[in-house]
Amino acid sequence: MTGDTRLFIMDAESPDPNMVVRAAGIISSGGILAFPTETVYGLGADATDPGAAGRIYAAKGRPGDNPLIVHISDTDALADVAVGDLARARLLASAFWPGPLTLILPKADIIPPKTTGGLDTVAVRMPRPGATRQIIRASGRPVAAPSANISGRPSPTCAAHVMDDFSGRIEGVVDCGPCSVGIESTIVDISNPARAPVILRRGFILPDEISKVLGCKVAVSDHAGEGTAPRAPGMKYRHYSPDAELVVVTSGSDRIKELVAAHVENKDTSVAVICAEETKGSYIGAAVYCLGERNDGQNIMRNLYRVLRQLDSDGIKVAFSEVFDDNEYGDTIMERLYRASNGRVIS
Ligand code: TXA
Ligand code: MG
Repeated sequence: MTGDTRLFIMDAESPDPNMVVRAAGIISSGGILAFPTETVYGLGADATDPGAAGRIYAAKGRPGDNPLIVHISDTDALADVAVGDLARARLLASAFWPGPLTLILPKADIIPPKTTGGLDTVAVRMPRPGATRQIIRASGRPVAAPSANISGRPSPTCAAHVMDDFSGRIEGVVDCGPCSVGIESTIVDISNPARAPVILRRGFILPDEISKVLGCKVAVSDHAGEGTAPRAPGMKYRHYSPDAELVVVTSGSDRIKELVAAHVENKDTSVAVICAEETKGSYIGAAVYCLGERNDGQNIMRNLYRVLRQLDSDGIKVAFSEVFDDNEYGDTIMERLYRASNGRVIS
């Protein structure tokens, strides 16, 4: 569509009930509504309607074989969208929902292949913000929602990011302020009860936490091997990338200082450094973007996509990034940074 995008500004936990009904009406009438989750903003539409799902793919410019996550408002709705043995799913749901964990399960017939990119499994999660769950409940449907960014761009962590990508191209945006987690949900494949659970995408919920709840080993397979089909189809595509050339420098801040100095010598004023609080005073001549203290992984995750988007709005052409792996979310953060850099690493 092209036209006005309606903005619904709501309190995340006590939204105006009339606004909830109007926002939900966009979804139940086949339109696209962006809404907050605790991870990133999602681009939502009726998961049971192939036409509505198709409009999400078109709006994002997303390849049709990259399935959407289905969002539900209550654990009971799990049995509407997934079939088979749901015992492990129920254990994980009671431990982590509402929250940043997506479960891969065999899909129910009500979910059309368009929503799952042709797969016979479905990705399901229950997001945390009360306003979003009320909207899903009022729409009377499970809601398909990928991250609300143009395909390939960094995920949106506030409503302004969504408007930057989709203003005039979707029916509405719900604004409940910035996301508290800032990085997409952990995805765990439990579609085959005879097989160990596999993490397909790292996130805020860590492999050990899942392992503890299920009482079994959990494998991690968050990227595709050469020539093999990735387990999460989306992982094979370019991701989270700013237009700026992002380079991850694994060889320390002195090396970054040399790289910056070489740019400054060429009078390149559009060079930036992404760094931690502890080193932010060291990069003379560069625009400095600080993600927070090195050991505060939660804060780094919250700031990462905002900073990647900020590089572009500030006209940065080249950005060198430090490594942020010395905290418990280090693997999650570095997986996103390496993807955002499209493999540009200096070691
Ligand atoms: O935190 C999140 O998960 C956010 C918010 C909006 O909920 N959503 C999100 O969606 O990140 P998206 O579409 O950007 O990423 C979904 C990922 C893709 O890599 C996709 O391939 C994978 O989930 N996926 C979806 N269904 C799948 C399935 N049946 N089997 C394997 N992977 C699946
Ligand atoms: Mg995404």
